[in-house]
Amino acid sequence: MRIIGTGSALPKKIVTNEMLSQFLDTSDEWITTRTGIKSRHVISDEKIEDLGAEAVRKALDMSGLKPSDIDLFIVSNVITNQDTPGMSCLVAAKVGLSCPMFDINCACPGFVYALDMAETYYKAGKVKNVLIACIEEPTRMTSWEDRSTCVLFGDGAGAAVLTEGDNIKGTKLHSQPDVDKIWMSRKLVPSPYVTTPDLEVPLQMKGREVFRFAVEACTNGVKRLLDEVGIKKDDVSWFMVHQANKRIIDSIIDFMQVPSERFPVNIHDHGNSSSASCPILLDECNRKGMFKEGDIIVLSAFGAGLLSGAAVLEW
Ligand code: COA
Repeated sequence: MRIIGTGSALPKKIVTNEMLSQFLDTSDEWITTRTGIKSRHVISDEKIEDLGAEAVRKALDMSGLKPSDIDLFIVSNVITNQDTPGMSCLVAAKVGLSCPMFDINCACPGFVYALDMAETYYKAGKVKNVLIACIEEPTRMTSWEDRSTCVLFGDGAGAAVLTEGDNIKGTKLHSQPDVDKIWMSRKLVPSPYVTTPDLEVPLQMKGREVFRFAVEACTNGVKRLLDEVGIKKDDVSWFMVHQANKRIIDSIIDFMQVPSERFPVNIHDHGNSSSASCPILLDECNRKGMFKEGDIIVLSAFGAGLLSGAAVLEW
């Protein structure tokens, strides 16, 4: 397939590190040196599905396609306060989509997983045009009393429209199931038959172990994928890496020995917006006119699961 439109939307509320240090035992200095984050967009009076719809409309506008042209709508979303119908249906009702649609919950690598699915449906001859949207509000998963998690995240939505083409050169997905490194759980409606209590626990994370997984999964996954498709790392124009932490990105750059200018970053004013991070970065770079026809772009993301994935595209 080929990407012909991108879009993104962010909550209007911007929360700086200084604002966090007013109610948490933290500081701009700690957050900046450990993560590279200075501020993040945080959901307040908006609904995340409205931001999803805005990102989708922008991507459709750029592509020149109408909602009725879309054959499949894939939405990546970890959590929202409405469990059913899924986020894909909530957004479809707002933008007028009526194709087959479903949600995936692959955490931060959701965009790469969705690209892999889109390409697989396309190669099976089932679709011509696919719309992907990653719509995430991780700031509703963390405890705002837990300085080790809430400072890391921001919210937002990113979308991409794909059509026929030979521009996805390859994808590689990876899992290392390990369910206590990043997790949260919440209570369901009580049932008279359930005898074990549900846990209500905000996002928990073993930061250092996740850090190691992220660096290894990205460097190994990208290397294997590039070897498989026969593209040299020096021929890659842009490495669009999940914006989780600037130190993770810097370690990946060190291991891969690639000039840092080829790693666009927006972590400083976005924080980690889960699966929305890659398509938001893609859209921002695209709208700045950074991509030229023929550029090779690598996308790589990692997160809860533990899951990771990489994709290589020709622009
Ligand atoms: N402000 C000030 N101090 C903080 C803090 C904050 N926001 N968060 C944690 N600390 C403290 C800890 O309590 C700890 O204090 P202690 O030594 O008195 O116990 C100290 O800082 C060191 O904590 P530690 O967790 O070892 O720090 P770290 O150097 O590993 O950095 C992360 C923590 C979370 C920034 C880092 O592990 C990380 O980036 N991990 C990857 C996380 C990630 O990106 N996850 C999403 C992937 S999709």
